Amino acid sequence: MPDQSSTRRTVVIGNWKMHKTGTEGAALAAGIVAGLRPGRAEVAIAPPFTALAPVADAIRGSSVALAAQDVFHEREGAFTGAVSAPMLAAASCSIVLAGHSERRHVFGDGDEDVRRKALAVLDAGMRPVVCVGETLEQRDAGQAENVVREQLEAAVGGLSDSQLAPLAVAYEPVWAIGTGRTATPDTAEAMHRVIRASLAALAGSEAAERTPILYGGSVKGDNAGAILSGANVDGLLVGGASLRADSFLDICHAAG
Ligand code: PGA
Repeated sequence: MPDQSSTRRTVVIGNWKMHKTGTEGAALAAGIVAGLRPGRAEVAIAPPFTALAPVADAIRGSSVALAAQDVFHEREGAFTGAVSAPMLAAASCSIVLAGHSERRHVFGDGDEDVRRKALAVLDAGMRPVVCVGETLEQRDAGQAENVVREQLEAAVGGLSDSQLAPLAVAYEPVWAIGTGRTATPDTAEAMHRVIRASLAALAGSEAAERTPILYGGSVKGDNAGAILSGANVDGLLVGGASLRADSFLDICHAAG
Protein backbone atom coordinates (compact mmCIF):
# COMPACT_ATOMS: atom_id res chain seq x y z
CA MET A 1 0.00 0.00 0.00
CA PRO A 2 1.53 3.36 -0.95
CA ASP A 3 2.25 5.67 1.94
CA GLN A 4 0.03 8.65 1.26
CA SER A 5 0.25 10.06 4.76
CA SER A 6 2.50 12.80 3.44
CA THR A 7 0.10 13.66 0.62
CA ARG A 8 -3.08 13.87 2.67
CA ARG A 9 -3.64 17.53 3.33
CA THR A 10 -4.06 18.49 6.97
CA VAL A 11 -7.57 19.75 7.70
CA VAL A 12 -8.45 21.98 10.65
CA ILE A 13 -12.12 22.74 11.30
CA GLY A 14 -13.37 25.13 13.97
CA ASN A 15 -16.78 24.03 15.25
CA TRP A 16 -18.38 27.02 16.93
CA LYS A 17 -21.35 24.98 18.18
CA MET A 18 -24.12 27.27 19.52
CA HIS A 19 -21.91 30.33 19.84
CA LYS A 20 -21.72 33.64 17.94
CA THR A 21 -24.39 35.79 16.36
CA GLY A 22 -23.94 36.81 12.74
CA THR A 23 -22.16 40.01 13.74
CA GLU A 24 -19.92 38.27 16.25
CA GLY A 25 -19.21 35.47 13.80
CA ALA A 26 -18.25 37.86 11.00
CA ALA A 27 -15.82 39.62 13.35
CA LEU A 28 -14.24 36.34 14.47
CA ALA A 29 -13.98 35.08 10.89
CA ALA A 30 -12.36 38.36 9.81
CA GLY A 31 -9.82 37.97 12.62
CA ILE A 32 -9.01 34.44 11.49
CA VAL A 33 -8.60 35.51 7.86
CA ALA A 34 -6.38 38.42 8.88
CA GLY A 35 -4.12 36.29 11.09
CA LEU A 36 -3.88 33.08 9.09
CA ARG A 37 -0.44 32.48 7.67
CA PRO A 38 -0.32 30.56 4.41
CA GLY A 39 0.43 26.92 5.14
CA ARG A 40 -0.26 23.35 4.26
CA ALA A 41 -3.40 23.04 6.33
CA GLU A 42 -6.88 23.41 4.89
CA VAL A 43 -8.79 25.57 7.37
CA ALA A 44 -12.58 25.70 7.73
CA ILE A 45 -14.99 27.22 10.20
CA ALA A 46 -18.43 25.94 11.12
CA PRO A 47 -20.65 28.68 12.53
CA PRO A 48 -24.29 28.20 13.51
CA PHE A 49 -26.74 28.37 10.58
CA THR A 50 -27.74 31.96 11.37
CA ALA A 51 -24.14 33.14 11.01
CA LEU A 52 -23.36 31.32 7.74
CA ALA A 53 -24.14 34.27 5.45
CA PRO A 54 -22.16 36.94 7.35
CA VAL A 55 -19.27 34.54 7.85
CA ALA A 56 -19.34 33.63 4.14
CA ASP A 57 -18.99 37.34 3.38
CA ALA A 58 -16.14 37.71 5.85
CA ILE A 59 -14.08 34.84 4.41
CA ARG A 60 -14.82 35.48 0.72
CA GLY A 61 -11.62 35.53 -1.32
CA SER A 62 -9.60 33.91 1.48
CA SER A 63 -8.41 30.31 1.79
CA VAL A 64 -10.78 29.64 4.71
CA ALA A 65 -13.68 27.33 3.85
CA LEU A 66 -17.20 27.42 5.23
CA ALA A 67 -18.63 24.40 7.02
CA ALA A 68 -22.01 23.60 8.56
CA GLN A 69 -22.49 21.79 11.85
CA ASP A 70 -25.43 19.64 10.81
CA VAL A 71 -27.97 19.01 8.04
CA PHE A 72 -31.29 17.27 7.48
CA HIS A 73 -31.25 14.55 4.85
CA GLU A 74 -34.32 15.56 2.82
CA ARG A 75 -33.87 18.08 0.01
CA GLU A 76 -36.93 20.17 0.83
CA GLY A 77 -40.43 19.85 2.20
CA ALA A 78 -42.54 20.17 5.33
CA PHE A 79 -39.71 19.76 7.86
CA THR A 80 -40.03 22.72 10.19
CA GLY A 81 -36.74 23.89 11.57
CA ALA A 82 -34.61 21.78 9.24
CA VAL A 83 -31.94 22.87 6.76
CA SER A 84 -31.08 20.77 3.70
CA ALA A 85 -27.78 19.97 2.01
CA PRO A 86 -28.62 21.89 -1.19
CA MET A 87 -29.45 24.92 1.00
CA LEU A 88 -26.06 24.66 2.69
CA ALA A 89 -24.28 24.31 -0.66
CA ALA A 90 -26.12 27.41 -1.89
CA ALA A 91 -25.00 29.20 1.28
CA SER A 92 -21.35 28.58 0.25
CA CYS A 93 -20.67 25.60 2.52
CA SER A 94 -18.27 23.00 1.19
CA ILE A 95 -18.06 20.87 4.34
CA VAL A 96 -20.81 19.54 6.64
CA LEU A 97 -20.45 17.64 9.91
CA ALA A 98 -22.57 14.52 10.25
CA GLY A 99 -23.11 12.73 13.54
CA HIS A 100 -21.26 15.03 15.91
CA SER A 101 -21.54 13.48 19.36
CA GLU A 102 -23.73 16.35 20.58
CA ARG A 103 -26.15 15.58 17.74
CA ARG A 104 -26.06 11.92 18.69
CA HIS A 105 -26.32 12.36 22.45
CA VAL A 106 -28.31 15.59 22.93
CA PHE A 107 -30.59 15.42 19.88
CA GLY A 108 -30.86 11.67 19.44
CA ASP A 109 -29.35 11.31 15.96
CA GLY A 110 -28.95 7.58 15.34
CA ASP A 111 -26.61 5.74 13.01
CA GLU A 112 -29.23 5.73 10.24
CA ASP A 113 -29.67 9.50 10.52
CA VAL A 114 -25.92 9.97 10.27
CA ARG A 115 -25.80 7.83 7.14
CA ARG A 116 -28.64 9.76 5.52
CA LYS A 117 -26.95 13.04 6.37
CA ALA A 118 -23.63 11.90 4.93
CA LEU A 119 -25.36 10.75 1.74
CA ALA A 120 -27.27 14.02 1.41
CA VAL A 121 -24.03 15.97 1.78
CA LEU A 122 -22.29 13.83 -0.85
CA ASP A 123 -25.27 14.19 -3.20
CA ALA A 124 -25.06 17.96 -2.87
CA GLY A 125 -21.37 17.88 -3.85
CA MET A 126 -19.92 18.73 -0.44
CA ARG A 127 -17.56 16.95 1.92
CA PRO A 128 -19.20 15.15 4.84
CA VAL A 129 -17.19 14.86 8.03
CA VAL A 130 -18.59 11.74 9.66
CA CYS A 131 -17.99 11.96 13.40
CA VAL A 132 -17.47 8.81 15.45
CA GLY A 133 -16.41 8.21 19.02
CA GLU A 134 -17.05 6.18 22.12
CA THR A 135 -18.29 7.24 25.55
CA LEU A 136 -16.17 6.79 28.66
CA GLU A 137 -18.39 3.91 29.72
CA GLN A 138 -17.82 2.15 26.41
CA ARG A 139 -14.07 2.73 26.61
CA ASP A 140 -13.90 1.42 30.17
CA ALA A 141 -15.83 -1.66 29.05
CA GLY A 142 -13.23 -2.31 26.34
CA GLN A 143 -15.72 -1.56 23.56
CA ALA A 144 -14.20 1.61 22.11
CA GLU A 145 -12.87 0.09 18.89
CA ASN A 146 -16.04 -1.87 18.20
CA VAL A 147 -18.25 1.14 18.79
CA VAL A 148 -16.22 3.27 16.41
CA ARG A 149 -16.07 0.53 13.76
CA GLU A 150 -19.83 0.05 13.96
CA GLN A 151 -20.55 3.79 13.71
CA LEU A 152 -18.34 4.04 10.66
CA GLU A 153 -19.81 1.00 8.96
CA ALA A 154 -23.34 2.25 9.63
CA ALA A 155 -22.48 5.63 8.11
CA VAL A 156 -20.58 4.65 4.98
CA GLY A 157 -20.72 0.85 4.58
CA GLY A 158 -21.77 -0.20 1.08
CA LEU A 159 -20.79 3.08 -0.57
CA SER A 160 -18.33 2.88 -3.43
CA ASP A 161 -14.81 4.19 -3.49
CA SER A 162 -15.83 6.96 -5.92
CA GLN A 163 -18.91 7.95 -3.89
CA LEU A 164 -16.65 8.35 -0.89
CA ALA A 165 -14.04 10.50 -2.62
CA PRO A 166 -14.85 13.69 -0.64
CA LEU A 167 -15.31 11.90 2.73
CA ALA A 168 -13.52 12.89 5.92
CA VAL A 169 -13.90 11.19 9.29
CA ALA A 170 -13.51 12.77 12.72
CA TYR A 171 -12.64 10.66 15.75
CA GLU A 172 -14.08 12.45 18.75
CA PRO A 173 -14.04 10.43 21.95
CA VAL A 174 -17.06 11.70 23.86
CA TRP A 175 -15.06 11.77 27.12
CA ALA A 176 -12.63 14.28 25.59
CA ILE A 177 -15.14 16.79 24.21
CA GLY A 178 -15.30 20.01 26.18
CA THR A 179 -13.82 18.26 29.22
CA GLY A 180 -10.22 19.43 29.00
CA ARG A 181 -9.29 15.74 28.92
CA THR A 182 -7.53 15.12 25.62
CA ALA A 183 -6.76 11.69 24.25
CA THR A 184 -3.01 11.11 24.38
CA PRO A 185 -1.32 11.20 20.98
CA ASP A 186 -0.90 7.42 21.25
CA THR A 187 -4.56 6.82 22.05
CA ALA A 188 -5.64 9.03 19.17
CA GLU A 189 -3.22 7.42 16.71
CA ALA A 190 -4.28 3.92 17.78
CA MET A 191 -7.93 4.68 17.06
CA HIS A 192 -7.10 6.46 13.82
CA ARG A 193 -5.33 3.29 12.69
CA VAL A 194 -8.45 1.30 13.51
CA ILE A 195 -10.56 3.77 11.52
CA ARG A 196 -8.24 3.60 8.51
CA ALA A 197 -8.28 -0.19 8.59
CA SER A 198 -12.09 -0.14 8.79
CA LEU A 199 -12.27 2.20 5.83
CA ALA A 200 -10.02 -0.14 3.88
CA ALA A 201 -12.30 -3.06 4.69
CA LEU A 202 -15.42 -1.06 3.77
CA ALA A 203 -14.32 0.84 0.66
CA GLY A 204 -10.88 -0.36 -0.34
CA SER A 205 -7.35 0.67 0.43
CA GLU A 206 -7.30 3.69 -1.87
CA ALA A 207 -10.32 5.21 -0.18
CA ALA A 208 -8.75 4.49 3.20
CA GLU A 209 -5.43 6.05 2.28
CA ARG A 210 -6.81 9.26 0.87
CA THR A 211 -9.50 9.93 3.54
CA PRO A 212 -8.47 12.55 6.09
CA ILE A 213 -9.11 11.37 9.65
CA LEU A 214 -9.39 14.27 12.10
CA TYR A 215 -9.13 14.16 15.88
CA GLY A 216 -11.42 16.22 18.08
CA GLY A 217 -11.72 16.66 21.83
CA SER A 218 -10.12 19.44 23.91
CA VAL A 219 -7.60 20.36 21.23
CA LYS A 220 -5.60 23.47 22.14
CA GLY A 221 -2.58 25.25 20.71
CA ASP A 222 -0.28 23.48 23.14
CA ASN A 223 -1.39 19.92 22.34
CA ALA A 224 -2.25 20.23 18.64
CA GLY A 225 1.26 19.51 17.39
CA ALA A 226 1.68 16.38 19.49
CA ILE A 227 -1.70 14.99 18.45
CA LEU A 228 -0.96 15.69 14.79
CA SER A 229 2.32 13.81 15.01
CA GLY A 230 0.45 10.51 14.63
CA ALA A 231 0.92 9.14 11.10
CA ASN A 232 -2.84 8.61 10.80
CA VAL A 233 -3.93 11.89 12.37
CA ASP A 234 -4.65 14.16 9.43
CA GLY A 235 -6.34 17.08 11.08
CA LEU A 236 -8.28 18.50 13.98
CA LEU A 237 -11.89 19.31 14.79
CA VAL A 238 -11.72 22.09 17.35
CA GLY A 239 -14.57 23.26 19.57
CA GLY A 240 -13.88 25.62 22.46
CA ALA A 241 -10.49 26.79 21.22
CA SER A 242 -11.99 27.87 17.89
CA LEU A 243 -14.07 30.61 19.53
CA ARG A 244 -11.19 33.07 19.65
CA ALA A 245 -9.04 33.99 16.68
CA ASP A 246 -5.75 33.78 18.60
CA SER A 247 -6.30 30.29 20.03
CA PHE A 248 -7.69 28.94 16.74
CA LEU A 249 -4.81 30.45 14.77
CA ASP A 250 -2.30 28.84 17.15
CA ILE A 251 -3.82 25.49 16.26
CA CYS A 252 -3.93 26.22 12.51
CA HIS A 253 -0.28 27.23 12.58
CA ALA A 254 0.69 24.16 14.62
CA ALA A 255 -0.90 22.17 11.80
CA GLY A 256 1.53 23.63 9.28
P1 PGA B 1 -13.84 20.76 22.22
O1 PGA B 1 -14.96 20.24 21.17
O2 PGA B 1 -12.63 21.14 21.40
O3 PGA B 1 -14.48 21.94 22.89
O4 PGA B 1 -13.57 19.63 23.15
C1 PGA B 1 -14.61 19.46 20.08
C2 PGA B 1 -15.84 19.14 19.26
O5 PGA B 1 -16.87 18.81 19.84
O6 PGA B 1 -15.84 19.21 18.01
